Amino acid sequence: MTVAGATPRLIDRGDLLAALDRASAKKVTIISAPAGSGKTSLLRTWADRPDRAHRLAVVRVRRDQHDAQDFWLALLDAVRHASGTASGAKPPAATPDFNAPAMVDRVLSELAGARSDITLVIDDLHELNSPETLAQLTRLLTKLPPGAHAVLTTRHDLRLGLHQLRLAGELAEIRAADLRFTERDTRELLAASGIALSGAGTALLHQRAEGWAAGLRLAALSLAGHPDPERFVAEFSGTNRAVAEYLIGEMLDRQPGDVKDLLLRTALLDRVNGELADLLTGRPGSERILLELEDANAFVVSLDPGGPPNGSADMARFLTPSGTRRRRATGMMRPGCWPTIRSA
Ligand SMILES: Nc1ncnc2c1ncn2[C@@H]1O[C@H](COP(=O)(O)OP(=O)(O)OP(=O)(O)O)[C@@H](O)[C@H]1O
Ligand SMILES: [Mg+2]
Repeated sequence: MTVAGATPRLIDRGDLLAALDRASAKKVTIISAPAGSGKTSLLRTWADRPDRAHRLAVVRVRRDQHDAQDFWLALLDAVRHASGTASGAKPPAATPDFNAPAMVDRVLSELAGARSDITLVIDDLHELNSPETLAQLTRLLTKLPPGAHAVLTTRHDLRLGLHQLRLAGELAEIRAADLRFTERDTRELLAASGIALSGAGTALLHQRAEGWAAGLRLAALSLAGHPDPERFVAEFSGTNRAVAEYLIGEMLDRQPGDVKDLLLRTALLDRVNGELADLLTGRPGSERILLELEDANAFVVSLDPGGPPNGSADMARFLTPSGTRRRRATGMMRPGCWPTIRSA
């Protein structure tokens, strides 16, 4: 199996693989963590293990996918390949009278008729920009036949309505905190990249990147040609050029115009709230944007000690490798990577 987007030379994160093994014994596993946390890489190492019992039907949702039919055809094709019923057959074709509920039933009956257990793997589900498709997917997930499982990744929590599975103990979640590189992982990543760094330097790098996989990888790339690695680590933060470019490309450029405007106009502030952002942008509605950004794990972290209702505040921390620890400042939000944006 291949999952596009992962890098070569992935280090083996045994504890995390074991956690995914345990999780995937449930009906549905959701891996929800921000960009660059290592979701796809984890799937890739998990899927590539020779001793896996289930067959995998892998689909990666294309960027900003609106077309329900494309999604379901890809999923059906993947399931048919995994179950062995696709051999020699043409991939299912698009039709003008496409019927999503009927398609879900088709996928379900392929899964029920499969000779071996199948796990659906859907990467980048946050890209699926169609509420109806998500609703149909919920139906699929809640009706999976015996022997069928699903593992989904997303950059932010989706409203999938899987409470029944949760109540039945059949929903597992792997989140940003679980994906964070440990100090040992960091050491291994550096060793695999041929970088010699002191123990203290490694610990500092790990701490500064807050275990964020992409940040550590970018640091390793920069360190490879650096004349003074220890000094590089001491200065490493969200202002690092490679990290800045990644954040801008993956996160900022993808925000809608009003959101980007808000982010840029508040970039000089250490903290911001809705009222202040309304003043700076000259528009109402900033509070809602800030809350949505936090929900989407993008750029802001709530400083409310209780965190937001869905408990996702921790996941925004990756955006500021240099210290977005939550502090007591009720109701205020601190922009996540302002120095980063300014340095671009
Ligand atoms: N086990 C690993 N070994 C080495 N590098 C890793 C590992 N896991 C993640 N990385 C590094 O972190 C980067 C980001 O990981 P990955 O693409 O898996 O994140 P993601 O959570 O899938 O991000 P996105 O939401 O953008 O899809 C990888 O390109 C890789 O460089
Ligand atoms: Mg990914």
